[in-house]
Amino acid sequence: MTTRTTLALLFAAAGLLSACGGSDDSKPATTTTVTDPDTVADQRASALVAQMTLDEKIQLVHGVGTQTGPLGGAGYIPGIPRLGIPDYYTADSATGVYQAKNGVTVDNGATAMPSNIALAASWDTQLAYNYGSQIGKELRTIGYTEGLGGGVDLARELRNGRIFEYMGEDPVLAGYLIASRTTGTQDQKVVATIKHFAANDQETNRFTSNSIIDERTLRELQLLPFEIGIKQGKPGNVMCAYNLLNGIKSCENTYLLTDVLKTEWGYQGKVQSDWFMALTDTVRGANAGLDEEEGGSTDDSAGFYGVPTFFNQKLKAAIAAGTVPLSRLNDMVQRKLRTMIRLGIMDSPAPLGGTIDQAAGDVAAKAAAEQSMVLLKNATPTGTTTPALPLNAATIQRIVVIGGHADVGVMTGGGSALTPPRGGNAVTCLNPTATIGGQVTGCATWYKSSPLDAIKAKAPNATVTYLDGSDAAAAATAAANADVAIVFGTQWETEGGDLASLSLPDAVADPANQSYDQNALIAAVAASAKRSVVVLESGTAVTMPWVNSVHSVLEAWYPGIQGGAAIADVLFGTVNPSGKLPITFPVNDTDQPQKAISSTDLNVVYSEGLNMGYRWYDSQNITPLFPFGHGLSYTSFAYSGLTTAVDANGNLTASFTLKNTGLVAGAEVAQIYAALPAAAGEPPQRLIGWQKVQLAPGASTKVTVSATAERLAIWDITLHQWRIPAGTFSFTVGGSSRDPLALASKQPFAGKVLALTH
Ligand code: BGC
Repeated sequence: MTTRTTLALLFAAAGLLSACGGSDDSKPATTTTVTDPDTVADQRASALVAQMTLDEKIQLVHGVGTQTGPLGGAGYIPGIPRLGIPDYYTADSATGVYQAKNGVTVDNGATAMPSNIALAASWDTQLAYNYGSQIGKELRTIGYTEGLGGGVDLARELRNGRIFEYMGEDPVLAGYLIASRTTGTQDQKVVATIKHFAANDQETNRFTSNSIIDERTLRELQLLPFEIGIKQGKPGNVMCAYNLLNGIKSCENTYLLTDVLKTEWGYQGKVQSDWFMALTDTVRGANAGLDEEEGGSTDDSAGFYGVPTFFNQKLKAAIAAGTVPLSRLNDMVQRKLRTMIRLGIMDSPAPLGGTIDQAAGDVAAKAAAEQSMVLLKNATPTGTTTPALPLNAATIQRIVVIGGHADVGVMTGGGSALTPPRGGNAVTCLNPTATIGGQVTGCATWYKSSPLDAIKAKAPNATVTYLDGSDAAAAATAAANADVAIVFGTQWETEGGDLASLSLPDAVADPANQSYDQNALIAAVAASAKRSVVVLESGTAVTMPWVNSVHSVLEAWYPGIQGGAAIADVLFGTVNPSGKLPITFPVNDTDQPQKAISSTDLNVVYSEGLNMGYRWYDSQNITPLFPFGHGLSYTSFAYSGLTTAVDANGNLTASFTLKNTGLVAGAEVAQIYAALPAAAGEPPQRLIGWQKVQLAPGASTKVTVSATAERLAIWDITLHQWRIPAGTFSFTVGGSSRDPLALASKQPFAGKVLALTH
């Protein structure tokens, strides 16, 4: 323990004793036995708050500029040296550290991990921990106190331009993964963020749109990933969203920030605003529970993008006027300091300007990419006896690789979730000023990780050629002359705008980044190739008018800085794919509950209620292109012997045997879904648990999956509590949400109201 800790403990102990009515002089103050780290952090933080002037407190609750300060990055709050409070540096870090200073991106060597939707497709909580840990390490190496990764808004609208930043459509999958990611980051002494709280589900009119959601839907879907992630991961930071929720700005929403987050969930960290236009009023924000304004400014006149801010002089004036109580300001500061103490940052702030270990980053990025790719389709070409994938390097002679800039790199998404490319963009933008409807569409980033080079390295004896895809007829001819044609399809999305369609874009849909009709190219290649493989680099679902005519489809997502090598490893079977879809892939855009994104109607009514994601397709009997949870392997798995038991408290244990019935080692994500008693009025099924199991060929194992009582509960809008309905529950276990071979089991339960717990 450092001297500073000891002093603070003494101070806190003395304060406690006097609060209890006086000290006992016969006992030294050092006999305090407080060891619980949360209590220690709280006591030290309140001792610091007690010593601070009003100006010092105000200083700690607003950023003083974006891309300013010694490090640049998203936010900067100077510390208070006289109290040992270090400077506070914040960077975006959805997929890696995004450092920019005064408008210039810093090429700091940060590792670009695969996108967050890819991480969700791994269904791997240990990988999520490693992902958070890797980014945390790099943030701390550079000197950052806080990272702004951790997007977990649900994929209600697949055309949302930020789907790649989020963790899919299921609240339980997203919740457990974000919790692990958070712990991974915070174990590196970096404050993690969970965002955007809440229901920030599309980019169109993102500052003014109003998500209208009934209480039960809100609690069972939109808030649930946050509830799980916050209770389990205990992030130091929750970022409130730009949008309104049921008519009130998220960052001024007392129900959201105070009643639910802080009171009901017992959240001890701080709430930070999103970067501009998130607030309209100082008093409303402060009293609703906002603890820090970001995109803040030195004088409240002009913050990020010149937008006026509210938590500097305006907050000071509100405190003086008594419209914001001083106790509220103290609480804002307390929340920030207790996290810095709790995570060890106060006593050991990160030194600035370290060097990133790029080799270690590459290993982490490759592992994540390999775990997250989803083999959607793998058919056996006519005249052969095995599926098109994996490719056999020993026998294959001619490979043609087509399109998607696969000769030079892999794509990634844009906006604050971008990790700047090491050594610059692999692809020159076709048209940086291209517009659609008067809006500049933006340039995609491709990392310098060439799938073509990696494919050549895998098949050194084959002739591997590349065509850029702009000439579909030439591509079809080359495909006819090759043993296999591998076509790359890319779909760029970015913060700030939504996709017009899930269809692979052409030059009209994405004039800055695409020069040809990708669907026509794939169809032409498929028509002539002996073996056709489509590799998709996308941030969300893709519609596939050509799906029946290609042999294989591999969803690689935005696979990060090691994407090229990871794609080749999967194509050649060095890695057996094990990813499963965290979102439903619909046949058409309009299969989704929201038929179109309105540019004029600011009220976004969640009229589908509980029927969101796969729940929608199940309840409406719509056959998806690929269902939630789907993903193939180069081996096969068999499930047998399901038994389930629900204890008196509503906790489920499910056991079954899983066997690898194929010829190669592989991992299966065994998924458990529950159908609630009919009277509960729930969608047909919900995911309640899963386990990813690695098995050698021929091996089998007994798998036990537990799910806590909350997973069987519904939100009771009369009690405002979780309640497990009485009746018979049906459980299924299988390899996707629509596995025809899934095993089923029924279990009666008497019903139970669950206590609100932290
Ligand atoms: C985004 C946040 C991001 C912030 C800082 C905002 O526009 O919505 O997700 O962390 O900018 O860059």
